Amino acid sequence: MAAKLGRTEVLSLLSLSCACVGVLANTFQGDGEPLIASVAFSGLAFSFTYALIRWLGPAFKRAGFKGKDLSKLRQPEIPETMGAVCAIVYLFIIIVFVPWPFYKDIVAATSGGGNRDVVFELQQVETGRLLHKFPHSKLASYLSAILSLQSVVLLGIGDDLFDIRWRHKVLIPAFASIPILIVYFVDFGVTKMVVPTFLRPYLGELFDLGWLYYVYMAMVSIFCTNSINILAGVNGIEVGQSLVIAFLIVFNDALYLSPFTPYPHPATDSHLFSLYLLLPFIGVSVALLMHNWFPAKVFVGDTYCYFAGMVFAVDGILGHFSKTLILLLLPQGFNFLYSAPQLFHIIPCPRHRLPHFNPRTGLMECSIVEFKKPLARPIAEVLKLLHRLRLLRIETNEKGEVVSSTNFTIINLWLVWFGPLREDRLAMGLLAFQTGCGLAGLFVRHRMALWVFTQDNL
Ligand code: UD1
Ligand code: MG
Repeated sequence: MAAKLGRTEVLSLLSLSCACVGVLANTFQGDGEPLIASVAFSGLAFSFTYALIRWLGPAFKRAGFKGKDLSKLRQPEIPETMGAVCAIVYLFIIIVFVPWPFYKDIVAATSGGGNRDVVFELQQVETGRLLHKFPHSKLASYLSAILSLQSVVLLGIGDDLFDIRWRHKVLIPAFASIPILIVYFVDFGVTKMVVPTFLRPYLGELFDLGWLYYVYMAMVSIFCTNSINILAGVNGIEVGQSLVIAFLIVFNDALYLSPFTPYPHPATDSHLFSLYLLLPFIGVSVALLMHNWFPAKVFVGDTYCYFAGMVFAVDGILGHFSKTLILLLLPQGFNFLYSAPQLFHIIPCPRHRLPHFNPRTGLMECSIVEFKKPLARPIAEVLKLLHRLRLLRIETNEKGEVVSSTNFTIINLWLVWFGPLREDRLAMGLLAFQTGCGLAGLFVRHRMALWVFTQDNL
């Protein structure tokens, strides 16, 4: 990868950045147009990330952040942990963005131009502007989101540096989510779930989960971060799936904004908040994907997986749509359940479960885990059953003992069904599957919801 940007790249990035700065300069009027500003900031985020990935790649390699691309003939060494570049650009962008959503409050709460020392007449105070309350709770949401994201990025960088054990790092996202949970508690505090109609005779219309709701939300953050990290190992798949999820959430958010929903809708503000967090995320991720797509010139590292997962968790929790979020992460959920036997060491788990590259054909095939010791009888029977259902591929010896099986990931399962495939075809297939599942999930969420609940909140 050339560390220098080409001429066309420099020109394109510069013109994009100038256009974005121009748009930003024009947002200081009316209500401050935070949504337009957010789009402009996302363009800037894209440009910065794109350039920084190129400039910093060699430095990252020198510092030891590098990995071998195992699915290529010569296994070239390329920079890893580029997710850290994304995360840092992202954090700076949303920090700089903070004044925009509050522009109208700042202007209204001060004397119009921002100079607080204008003296108000008593009469004016009683009826007028000073009674305008600055939305501290909204600001708290923002700041807590930034805090949670920062903590999880630290974890990611630590993991990329030291390869922290799975059991040690699994709880860290839960700690990182404490700031957003506190804001949720103080600000929103709803721990009740709407009960599906067929359960209502037993549980009533609303069921209060109480403190368990907070446990549930902490688990959402553990799930989002780790489930993206284990659906990995093919060029472009980590960033690709995150982008698909992000676009689907943006689509869902758009349904709550005008012209789809007339303005003062109770959920509009939280979906706007979600957009402010997601648009810059899309900006940095597209820049990363352009370098990580097959044949990859950089790896994203665990930092990106944790960062992306936490963006979704923060967004879903503070935007009050954590259940919809889970619908969009169904493939990840399935992959997690399917992986469970290996994650919990019921079946041996090799260091890498990514598909196997066949150097002769140049295609990806299922990777195999060999069983040195014979498996316990019930486990072997279950594997044979899964094999017959085409949910796995096993090999048996002449005595009928299971000697090996494909690794338990949906990437390998995809190859059991459709393989062998070239690496980019594999990634595209999985991303199309993710998109299909997500759209179906949203359809169920908004249309079929009426069958199990009495109303959709749109
Ligand atoms: C997770 C998976 C592991 C998978 C790995 C691949 C579990 C429990 N862990 O581990 O099975 O093999 O991700 O990311 O499911 N790499 C490639 N091509 C790619 C992406 C990564 O060859 O497109 C290789 C590179 O050598 C890279 C390494 O994977 O250096 C990164 O692995 P790492 O993210 O450290 O693995 P884990 O997240 O621990
Ligand atoms: Mg990883």
